[in-house]
Amino acid sequence: MSATEQLSIRVEPTQQSRLSQVDFNNLTFGQIMSDHMLVAEYNDGEWTDVSILPYGDLTVSPSMSALHYGQAIFEGVKGYKFADGTVSIFRPEKNWERFNKSASRLQMPEVPEEIFLGGLKKLLDVDRNWVPSKEGTSLYIRPFMFATEAALGVHPSISYKFIIITCPVGAYYSKPISLKVETHYTRAAEGGVGFSKNAGNYALSLYPTQLANDAGYDQIMWTDAKEHRYIEEAGTANLIFRIGDSIITPHGDTILHGVTRRTIMELAEKWGYKAEQRKVSVQELIEGIENGTVSEAFAAGTAATITHISSIGFEGNDYHLPPVEGREFANKVLSYLNALRYGEIEDPFGWNYIV
Ligand code: COI
Repeated sequence: MSATEQLSIRVEPTQQSRLSQVDFNNLTFGQIMSDHMLVAEYNDGEWTDVSILPYGDLTVSPSMSALHYGQAIFEGVKGYKFADGTVSIFRPEKNWERFNKSASRLQMPEVPEEIFLGGLKKLLDVDRNWVPSKEGTSLYIRPFMFATEAALGVHPSISYKFIIITCPVGAYYSKPISLKVETHYTRAAEGGVGFSKNAGNYALSLYPTQLANDAGYDQIMWTDAKEHRYIEEAGTANLIFRIGDSIITPHGDTILHGVTRRTIMELAEKWGYKAEQRKVSVQELIEGIENGTVSEAFAAGTAATITHISSIGFEGNDYHLPPVEGREFANKVLSYLNALRYGEIEDPFGWNYIV
């Protein structure tokens, strides 16, 4: 789309809605896709053909460069329904900004606001009946972009597809999770792509995560590439700790800059806690659990929302966090964010983007 052209989004409604087949009382994560998807094409330096189509398979070339060289990025966003039927998306402009940072790092084109946010709004308008309303449920929104040039030379693709699909979901983690501190494998090194939401960051986590699962843990706690001394993130979510009266999250270019994490740290600051973005060593965490100064630990992400951490495995020992009922900060944030996202309280920060 050129700057002078008005964006028009063509809508081709489905002739066969699958809505009546969905059991909204038993939603799992990411299994059932909503009726429609937004698709935009990038060719010759311009975004063109922005359409909302019935959800369905794509035809791609086997030599498409995303399949070979991994130019593929995505986002996770959530939409909620208020009791009066209003549909709202939580801080999607922050996902749009992060998406374009990921795009730049992978030498992909930025997606303009009118396609990312305008397209999202229109897609949710078309599929508003797919947004669940029960507490703990939401419409998970997955914007993504991949390189479509059919060529095997290693160079930035000249063509891309940007797509948004959505699915009604329940919890990603249905109970507190145990994490194994990873001291051999590495997720990201400084100067790499750890901060970006690219597909490869998830592919590389699968094998070490399987090893952690085989050892009895739910997820990995990644540590820094140089020394495996400092905590980074959980791979599917960021990590936040309460140490003494401080709310602390690791930070840096090796860690995904999560929108949920940012929201929680902003709330911590507004509510008068000491909110810190700094390095946390595994040793500080383990000693803090043992001497009682670490009172809370949780994973924070769009999919994970706030998931309490039950225990941390390190060098053959398990360190157990206090019971979740007593975790004052995480429980307070969770209830506050639930009330705000479902429209039960005022939205003083303008975080709800109404469709
Ligand atoms: C999200 O939280 O939206 C994510 O992308 C995490 C994903 C692994 C489900």
